Amino acid sequence: MTATPPPGAPWGGRFVQPTDPAVRAFTASLPFDHRLWPYDLEGSEAWARALAKGGVLTEAELEVLLKGLAAIREELERGAFPFRPELEDIHMNIERRLQEKVGEVGGKLHTGRSRNDQVALDMRLYLRAEIRAIRQAIRDCQAALVAQAETHPDAPMPGYTHLQRAQPILLAHHLLAYVFMLERDRERYRDCLGRVERLPLGAGALAGTTVPVDRHELARGLGFALPAPNSVDAVSDRDFALEFLGTSAILAMHLSRLGEELVLWASQEFGFVELPDAFATGSSLMPQKKNPDVAELIRAKAGRVYGDLVALLTVMKGLPLAYQRDMQEDKEAFFDAADTVKASLGVLAPFLRALVFRTDRLRAAAGEGYTTATDLADYLVRRGTPFRQAHELTGRIVRYAIEQGRPLAGLTLEELRRFSPLVGPDVHQALTVEASLAAREVYGGTGPEAVRRALAEARALLEAP
Ligand code: ARG
Repeated sequence: MTATPPPGAPWGGRFVQPTDPAVRAFTASLPFDHRLWPYDLEGSEAWARALAKGGVLTEAELEVLLKGLAAIREELERGAFPFRPELEDIHMNIERRLQEKVGEVGGKLHTGRSRNDQVALDMRLYLRAEIRAIRQAIRDCQAALVAQAETHPDAPMPGYTHLQRAQPILLAHHLLAYVFMLERDRERYRDCLGRVERLPLGAGALAGTTVPVDRHELARGLGFALPAPNSVDAVSDRDFALEFLGTSAILAMHLSRLGEELVLWASQEFGFVELPDAFATGSSLMPQKKNPDVAELIRAKAGRVYGDLVALLTVMKGLPLAYQRDMQEDKEAFFDAADTVKASLGVLAPFLRALVFRTDRLRAAAGEGYTTATDLADYLVRRGTPFRQAHELTGRIVRYAIEQGRPLAGLTLEELRRFSPLVGPDVHQALTVEASLAAREVYGGTGPEAVRRALAEARALLEAP
């Protein structure tokens, strides 16, 4: 009696018994890798062409395969593709469908190819598209930050260290801090792209393909810089996905810091921003509430993305070369990370644009809490006092002012001179928020001119690719 091949599996020849349904369900990746279909088709079209060049397919056969793949693309776009859960993954689903559509010649597409190099290619093509989209979404958030900075070029606010008021800065300067921070994220994604764009196709299962393909040409055709130089590494490597996750984790961390600041600023304690209704939520119980849920969730998403990174690092740890099925666990992690950072960036840009800054509150806070004490010390230094001594003197003056319940600028010249005879009548001018800002025109500082130049620098970044 001839054995019936197990339904679905393409390795029927070697097997007598069908796969246990529990095994099929447990090992399937189709439930999540189906979204790789555009990239699987792109890779298959390129491989079909390489097969024709290598003499494995006739021109007529190539035409048939490309037509079949185009028809499958159309089905997938329409949502009419008959997914078969009994076939492990998207690769086998598409290959089986191709055979249905074009008959026996469909079985030639997988010549000299393995799902190991195929899936590695699909992931690289997917990540390339995601990186482009994420870099654009970062740009959009940067543009929103720059627009807010340009709306408030002269508004002062308190700068903080230890969440204690430290020195006056310009709101525009604070916002630009995030613009330049996000620029590093864009750079990291671009660097990451340099290693994503390496062609694994032609590595076969692990040893290289027997089909005479020019892998350099194949790489160029897919827009990749170069082929991966080692077939074993090509199918074992998930560094590019880890880099993507690491880069995304850093980006998510940055967004969480901004989210946290927005939460703080929207509180009544700070009152620095008015949350736009469209980007706030209410309470089902407390009628007065207006909550910063969007900012809180942006803050929280970092945890998810870190989880994705740690999950894949842990999957890859200790894996022997070359492909191991463990590596199938990579996809959900980077799908989730890509979806998560895109979602955060997507809501953040319009949220930032809609924020209303309460510049009166920011301005008042900028001068409260002895934020110009450093300027008093600097004043004494200009008068010849060594900085350490000026620091000590100013500290005593601040303590005196606190005891009196008065601001620094509220002390009379006479009171100040009791601490140092070097204090002159121009001291009060030096203690204003404006003077404090104007004293910091160093490149990268918060002086109004320096910030104007930084704004121009940021504007120029927005134009760059
Ligand atoms: N579904 C598999 C994955 O996502 C495709 C590669 C399978 N290769 C294999 N030798 N089982 O990793």
